[in-house]
Amino acid sequence: MQEVFGEERGKGCFSFRARERSWGGRSKGSSEKKGERDVYAYGETPFTTYERIVEECGIGPRDTWMEMGAGRGKGCFWLAHFTKCKVIGIEWIPSFVSIANAVKGLFRMKRVEFECKDIEKVDVSRATVIYLYGIWPHLEIPKGVRVITISEPLQGFEVIKRFWVRYPWGRTTAFLQVR
Ligand SMILES: C[S@@+](CC[C@H](N)C(=O)[O-])C[C@H]1O[C@@H](n2cnc3c(N)ncnc32)[C@H](O)[C@@H]1O
Repeated sequence: MQEVFGEERGKGCFSFRARERSWGGRSKGSSEKKGERDVYAYGETPFTTYERIVEECGIGPRDTWMEMGAGRGKGCFWLAHFTKCKVIGIEWIPSFVSIANAVKGLFRMKRVEFECKDIEKVDVSRATVIYLYGIWPHLEIPKGVRVITISEPLQGFEVIKRFWVRYPWGRTTAFLQVR
């Protein structure tokens, strides 16, 4: 998987300035393109960080991991392959979803699926765990569904656990929480 996606160390251009805007809708005129011209103003979770999240949060084969804003889907493939959980990646950039689906077909990955949708319009009741990185959507999250956020917890949720994680831009805190 790493050969397919690379690890992009040093290329992850997450910026806090970007967080104030909406991911995928950053540049003028990009609302139709949903950020396709600006793919490097985009940050990915390193595989080592996915591994740490999985260990700290006890993600396993009984889980359904829903990744909100799955990007190129590399984390989704990693999760499905190494934890054997079911994975649903939601991403609104069509080219990311097409490529992820092509990779899924190439490697005959059965546990992972991708939906080209706005995350705010998705049925999240299928998930046992939701991963949010770099985006803060308005979601109706059912009770009992665990949510992992990076750098800040969600308001109105009970934080079960906090632990440090690394991204290309530095070290921060991950929050595991439930409603
Ligand atoms: C910071 S990247 C994270 C990618 C991946 N989750 C990871 O951690 O490596 C955020 C992704 O969310 C997508 N995104 C942002 N808002 C979205 C929305 N409303 N619906 C679907 N995808 C969205 C962006 O296009 C981008 O690919």
